[in-house]
Amino acid sequence: MESSPLRSVCKLLPAAAALLLLAGCSPPLPPSKPLSELTPQEMHGHEVFVDNCARCHDANDTRVLHGPGLQALFKQKYLPSGFPANDERVTFVILHGHGMMPAFGNTISQEQLRDLLAYLHTL
Ligand code: HEC
Repeated sequence: MESSPLRSVCKLLPAAAALLLLAGCSPPLPPSKPLSELTPQEMHGHEVFVDNCARCHDANDTRVLHGPGLQALFKQKYLPSGFPANDERVTFVILHGHGMMPAFGNTISQEQLRDLLAYLHTL
């Protein structure tokens, strides 16, 4: 029986498929805007984030800290909970909390909220 090169390639295919699965098939997320390029408003939002959110959320990763990582929050179609990723829903979650996440409606000002949203859009 002859063993053609094509046949040996075919034998490797299942292994290649398994590797792809292991590596995760979803395309990589776009990187966040670097801090050095933030506008003054986005920079203020970043400070609000560090003060109020960073202990539970990683801004540069999607891994869970206490809450889900927020990398590419608005660049994806859906939030971790399955709601559409839009200002309305994210504002609601920040003001009213969600599950284990505390509400911030009484602790952050309108201005802080606006700047925080601007910052979240850079992730
Ligand atoms: C004490 C920890 C904690 C803090 C502080 C916190 N979060 Fe969360 N957050 C969570 C947890 C836990 C969840 C997941 C909630 C769930 O789905 O039950 C979450 C979920 C979220 C979600 C996803 C909501 C969804 O619908 O999937 C967003 C966006 C979010 N937080 C933003 C923020 C922002 C912005 C701040 C700062 C103002 C903040 N969080 C502060 C714990 C926290």
